[in-house]
Amino acid sequence: MAPVDPSAHAADFNADPYPFYAALRATGPVHRLELGGTRSWVVVGHDEAREALAHPALSKDWIGSDFPGDPQVPAVARNMLDADPPHHTRLRRLVAREFTARRVESLRPRVQRITDGLLDAMEGLPGRRGDLVREFAVPLPMTVICELLGVPDLDRERFRYWSGEIVAPLDGAGADPRALEEMTAFLAELVAAKAGDPGEDLLSALIRTRDEDGGRLSPDELIGMAFLLLVAGHETTVNLIGNGVRALLAHPDQLAALRADPDGLMEGAVEEMLRYDGPVQHATYRFAAADLELGGVRIESGSSVLVALGAAGRDPGRYAEPGPEVFDIRRTGPGHLAFGHGIHYCLGAPLARMEGRIAIRSLLERFPDLAEDPDAGPRDWLPGILMRGVSRLPLHW
Ligand code: HEM
Repeated sequence: MAPVDPSAHAADFNADPYPFYAALRATGPVHRLELGGTRSWVVVGHDEAREALAHPALSKDWIGSDFPGDPQVPAVARNMLDADPPHHTRLRRLVAREFTARRVESLRPRVQRITDGLLDAMEGLPGRRGDLVREFAVPLPMTVICELLGVPDLDRERFRYWSGEIVAPLDGAGADPRALEEMTAFLAELVAAKAGDPGEDLLSALIRTRDEDGGRLSPDELIGMAFLLLVAGHETTVNLIGNGVRALLAHPDQLAALRADPDGLMEGAVEEMLRYDGPVQHATYRFAAADLELGGVRIESGSSVLVALGAAGRDPGRYAEPGPEVFDIRRTGPGHLAFGHGIHYCLGAPLARMEGRIAIRSLLERFPDLAEDPDAGPRDWLPGILMRGVSRLPLHW
């Protein structure tokens, strides 16, 4: 099987990866992948994606394995998304209770107030126009996760630069090595400051917490947890809002239906945004700890596997009526994999859903004339293959 190389299509791929996935899927659910010269596989069929996400032979723990990697493991990588059971179980259990649907529901009034404050500021902008990503999609989830963790004075520009460098280029190309160092130093300082002067926030709670065996999170584990929650808690939701608004503006009939009945349609609309053009296009790398078979293909021990969540969301075998390429906020039927599956299923899904629903609803209610800025120029697609979205979304309102 000849390897496929999405970077060979880089510009078109980031603008619209879906024809590329469809062509691949037509010839099979699992393909060899060429990325940065490593032996990799990419999974594009829905059922095989689901199977891979929960496959017992596919490990997340490259640190504890003999896979090639930097022996100087950065603290930020010691997080639950890079861990297998029982380590994963322990880390996840320590924070899971903070992210239950019930806990998240208690944040609703605050999320609404932050949203309303941002919309007030947008109303005051000259010409009632601007970049929705900058004015709304970034500050909303960023403020929420920073308040939750207790990081009041985060330098957002700097933080977004670091997280962009660390997260976006999944193939490692072009990342700024100082970003990792600076991010680690910043988080180490934050954890030390919280330990000395604890508050009512989540990070202080994690420092105090003991697990069932009486063990505490080590300083590196705390840094890893803070890193994961800060990055996973905002970069993704930014693009749920951005991609969702783009999809609505591109489908005026769907937008009109949603405006007419937000009570009845908002939940389904956000699920459809996640399926149709989800923020996380590929789950994080998994590594074959033993030989395995997936979609009729033999994957050798030591290979890495990427699960293309964006491709799974457009699998015609799963989303038959109406077809997978149709954006239909009234779609009923099977769910999607935009939050992953299995033990690493997104911890923040209830929070992301609540933020997404409040954000889209409040935006539409406040601005009945929301539209794309005709002078916006070409789209500015995010680089890399992990996140899908635009870095700017010029609109008027
Ligand atoms: C629309 C927004 C979001 C999407 C689409 C999303 C998607 C995902 C996906 C696909 C995974 C699994 C990755 C894998 O298996 O490789 C994941 C894991 C995770 N997400 Fe989210 N996420 C979102 C928002 C959030 C938020 C708001 C938080 C907040 C705290 C969060 C925290 C996490 C954590 C901690 C994990 C790791 C869970 C584990 O390893 O057990 N996510 N997310």
